[in-house]
Amino acid sequence: MSLAPPLPVECRRVVVDEVTLGRRVTELAAALDATYGGQDVRLVTVLRGGVFFLADLCRAMRSDVRLDFMAVSPYVPGRGGAVRVTKDLDDDVTGAHVVLVEDVVDTGLTVNYVLGLLKARGAASVEVCALLDKPARRIAEVPLSFIGFELGEAFLVGYGLDLNGRFRNLPYIAEVAEEVVFGGRTS
Ligand code: IMP
Repeated sequence: MSLAPPLPVECRRVVVDEVTLGRRVTELAAALDATYGGQDVRLVTVLRGGVFFLADLCRAMRSDVRLDFMAVSPYVPGRGGAVRVTKDLDDDVTGAHVVLVEDVVDTGLTVNYVLGLLKARGAASVEVCALLDKPARRIAEVPLSFIGFELGEAFLVGYGLDLNGRFRNLPYIAEVAEEVVFGGRTS
């Protein structure tokens, strides 16, 4: 394995290293395979943060999977939690067993909205697989069937997570220094 890139000055510390991430993603893939054994599974991810997790997760799975993507407008505090679809799914989910693959569940508003939408479209089942769960700031109680790591409130970057579009390609997950986070949430 290659050497991890140095920690950016904006970050305080690595919270999940590359090896630990890889190990946990493999475990989650095995848990999904055990749950869906033999059935077709549709993995749906919300762009853009979830794509790194999705790519590793689906390659570690042995089930017959299909992938689809959607994008939603980021939640803006004070707007009552309204989330809007900016890129819809390409395929019909009617009758499909869907796993919503999320990078991080923070307030829960995004997952809550997407879950409602998938159910309203007639998916046979919808479960959530979240790499990171940050329950401290939860507003909408959402059922998470598969969780990679439960972490605190700190703003995180790497492995798909960004701060103003940066740091997605770090192979580990790092905590951003509080003074840097100010005003910097994107999806
Ligand atoms: P929500 O607050 O649960 O709706 O989180 C929605 C989205 O906010 C996530 O899918 C991420 O894209 C983004 N987000 C939440 N927490 C973090 C973080 O710590 N780092 C980077 N993005 C985050």
